Amino acid sequence: MRVTASLLFASLLLLLLPSIEMRRPGKGRGLKGARHKLARDRVRGVGRHGRSPPSCSESVEAGDVFVDCQGRRLNAIPDSKTWSQEPKHLLFARNRIKVLRNGAFLGYEGLTSLDLQQNQISLVEEGAFEGLTQLTTLLLQHNQLGTLSEEALIPIPNLRYLRLYDNPWICLCGMESLIRTLQVPSNRHIGNYAKCAEPTRLKNIRLKQINPELLCQEPDPTSNQTDPAKPLEPSSIRGKSDATVVCHTYLFPEVRMDCSNRGLTEVPAGIPEDVVHVDLSHNEIRHLKAKSFNGARSLRMLNLSHNRMEHLDTGSMSGLLHLRELDLSDNGLHFIQHGVLEDLYFLSKLRLGGNPWMCDYSIHYMVYWLRLHPAVRHSGLQCHAPLQHVGESVEEYVHSYNRGCPKDRLHNRVNEDQTNTAQELQAELEEELEPSHLRKPKKYEIIRLS
Ligand SMILES: *[C@@H]1O[C@H](CO)[C@@H](O)[C@H](O)[C@H]1NC(C)=O
Ligand SMILES: *[C@@H]1O[C@H](CO)[C@@H](O)[C@H](O)[C@H]1NC(C)=O
Repeated sequence: MRVTASLLFASLLLLLLPSIEMRRPGKGRGLKGARHKLARDRVRGVGRHGRSPPSCSESVEAGDVFVDCQGRRLNAIPDSKTWSQEPKHLLFARNRIKVLRNGAFLGYEGLTSLDLQQNQISLVEEGAFEGLTQLTTLLLQHNQLGTLSEEALIPIPNLRYLRLYDNPWICLCGMESLIRTLQVPSNRHIGNYAKCAEPTRLKNIRLKQINPELLCQEPDPTSNQTDPAKPLEPSSIRGKSDATVVCHTYLFPEVRMDCSNRGLTEVPAGIPEDVVHVDLSHNEIRHLKAKSFNGARSLRMLNLSHNRMEHLDTGSMSGLLHLRELDLSDNGLHFIQHGVLEDLYFLSKLRLGGNPWMCDYSIHYMVYWLRLHPAVRHSGLQCHAPLQHVGESVEEYVHSYNRGCPKDRLHNRVNEDQTNTAQELQAELEEELEPSHLRKPKKYEIIRLS
């Protein structure tokens, strides 16, 4: 008993040692380091004895400490001592913060992500992010920011993801340094989609596309050649909405986009490539067009339920090589077009209920595809028409169709071939992940449907 206890104590000590080591202020860091240390001591000296404000929750997932204060009507960042452990992720979306003061995050030096979207922030003081040296992700979209100095980002050397869209940016001289920073090619996840609201001639131009040379020039009324409105690149396709603007993005526990209930008639463009989960349910999409999910290559879960889809173009799901779960329920689908499911190698769940599946020849592709992909669990595949098959499962229908077929023997042979092909396919899957246009034609494509 005592041996165990002392062993435990020793290993605890061992665990604690490296962190103590890490927190020792670095040598030769100068004034700035000393200032950090002071701030830290001020915070830590008191000890972590407080309790969470009743409204926030603390949790640990995969070893990371999350503090979730979303939608709590808070108008300030709570003191870091409030939490029982040092948070790594601070979720502060949908609150009422208006100003981020200097030193607002002192004591939060361990943060790697900070979600401040959907507040009312209109001012970020230059020292607001002081101390956030570990931070990689900062979400400021859907706020009231008109301007932000690049100086404010200097204390965040590891920043890789910065979201700034849906703020009323005033694209004047004060924004020059920030705009230059956004345009550095290596900052490709920083400030995408953010657009100017003012001045009028720059309205709706993306910060990434403004020529910063011209922001701080005196406007020359005699010339209209040096118009900063002239985009550096061709401007984006009009008409289609940007996913990052119409949908809400959440980063934890996975990158998720909520685009549900937005009256969308098509899939919004520009779903970022790191998004894992997209919810497009309860919209008005009738026709899923080819390349709808172009670039969304990390997608694992796609919810298209409760739309009005009658037709899915052959290439509409192309590129979704990692999709695990697809919900097509409660739409107007009669059948699935040949080839639609071609790229969905790793699909494991498919919801099909609530569609008027038509049990005639057009449904066979769906059933063959399911046979070739025995790992896919599906639900809701029931004949809705014609009358003699209503209520029957679609697979039963195809089975009885084949039984009735005079070329029964031929069909049995095809079936054996399918078993082999399924195994070969499995083997191919393990190594092959290129986009479909780079792939050589596959053996299973020979399966005859007639
Ligand atoms: C811009 O330049 C064109 C031709 O160079 C001229 O006709 C036009 O009036 C100018 N517009 C303004 C607002 O100065
Ligand atoms: C898709 O969205 C609908 C409506 O919000 C929901 O009921 C359904 O459970 C979702 N599907 C999945 C697989 O989560």
